[in-house]
Amino acid sequence: MKTVAILSQKGGAGKTTITLHLAVAAQLARHIPVVIDLDPQASSAGWKDGRRSETPVVVSVPASRLTQALDAARAGAADLVLIDTAPHSGEVALAAAEAADLVLIPCRAGILDLKAIATTARIVKLGGKRAYVVLNAVPPRAPHVIADARAAVAVHGLDVAPIALQQRAAYAHALTVGQTAQEYEPEGKGGEDIAQLYHWLQGELGRA
Ligand SMILES: Nc1ncnc2c1ncn2[C@@H]1O[C@H](COP(=O)(O)OP(=O)(O)O)[C@@H](O)[C@H]1O
Ligand SMILES: [Mg+2]
Repeated sequence: MKTVAILSQKGGAGKTTITLHLAVAAQLARHIPVVIDLDPQASSAGWKDGRRSETPVVVSVPASRLTQALDAARAGAADLVLIDTAPHSGEVALAAAEAADLVLIPCRAGILDLKAIATTARIVKLGGKRAYVVLNAVPPRAPHVIADARAAVAVHGLDVAPIALQQRAAYAHALTVGQTAQEYEPEGKGGEDIAQLYHWLQGELGRA
């Protein structure tokens, strides 16, 4: 079982969006994903409430129950656990990073918030895990954005994932109806980008 923590000390960066889209990508690849939602706002769990499908499993637990939730996922034969987290809670983010094989840090490229990245980077360093910034909601036709962001986060000792997610209405619309972009718009570009991100993640987890 591999565990990925999705962290960002900034709200609205795309933690829940990326968590749920990767979970469904795993599902589509016939893996057994489990989402552990540590955010007291429980957005991932709320998405599951509005979903018709039984899968992926989403459990909402306080951070103090993370170990038990991971044990339950393992006992349930999960092969990928995605931990969604709340912003502004360094202690919980650290616990998630420590439990993970790999950390993903969603970050909006347009308003690259270096202060928030610096805080998240410090937490990740404490957790001692490999971490990648995933640029999210990148405007279309802005090829310089990724290069600029790579330079900006390198200052904090972080790498940028080679796959960035663009700003696409399908990501937001899909989640409001208990789906993800792959399901909501099966031929859409959003699903394609997620498939690529998932493929890259699998490669990284193989090395983790
Ligand atoms: N790539 C994207 N394109 C369009 N909307 C996005 C994208 N990523 C996130 N959003 C929207 O931005 C808002 C915040 O995203 P969310 O995943 O909830 O962030 P977080 O969990 O980090 O607070 C949501 O309304 C979501 O639908
Ligand atoms: Mg969230």
